[in-house]
Amino acid sequence: MIIAIDGPAGSGKSTIAKLVAKKTGFLYIDTGAMYRALTLKTINNRIDPKDERAVCDLAKRTQIDLIPNAHGPIQVLLDNIDVSVAIREPRVTSRVSDIAKLGSVREILVKLQRRLGAERDCILDGRDIGTTVFPDAERKFYIDAAFDVRVERRYKDLINLNIKGVSREQVASDLKNRDTIDSTREHSPLKKAPDAVFIDTSAMTIDEVVNAVMSRIHTGSS
Ligand code: DC
Repeated sequence: MIIAIDGPAGSGKSTIAKLVAKKTGFLYIDTGAMYRALTLKTINNRIDPKDERAVCDLAKRTQIDLIPNAHGPIQVLLDNIDVSVAIREPRVTSRVSDIAKLGSVREILVKLQRRLGAERDCILDGRDIGTTVFPDAERKFYIDAAFDVRVERRYKDLINLNIKGVSREQVASDLKNRDTIDSTREHSPLKKAPDAVFIDTSAMTIDEVVNAVMSRIHTGSS
């Protein structure tokens, strides 16, 4: 079974996806982490995000692995090096949408996501899982929250990761910029699949959202 969870940054989708993966025993695939890992490599290699051919060539020479961890967050390996924290740094976050909007790059990462999804039961989160990567996913959710709530969550995420020196205002401006690029880009923009269940998490606790998702997984609605 494939469970697709889409939504904007800070909506809570990755927190929910991880917890639902734990409850169901499904493999959790954080597709945003893949775009982030490739973005980090473009920074390390001083590649201009506007140079689509160079970014695509780099993507073809890149290995990205997501290693599940029973005791904590998944480990993200970029060419066998652990980049789990580095990919959350502001220098990556501020550039990732410019990399993710490139059609040829998406083709490569979508192929990888489909290959992983074909191997076993999975829960994937991202922007285009229910619309493009797995349009036939058995369960689809679109998770959203009010802008201010999303800013606060992302700000707290950075504090928890011990990433310092970023103000709330910077987080808000970055989120706004990414929302715009992610939802207006030409290739697979962020969009709710018509058959996805919409959940506004603004005023919900994590447990409430997990329960809402779990009950729909069991009853089979969506
Ligand atoms: O979920 P996140 O913030 O880690 O995602 C980082 C960026 O990657 C996000 O701004 C858009 C892009 N992304 C995408 O285009 N498609 C996906 N399936 C997942 C993420």
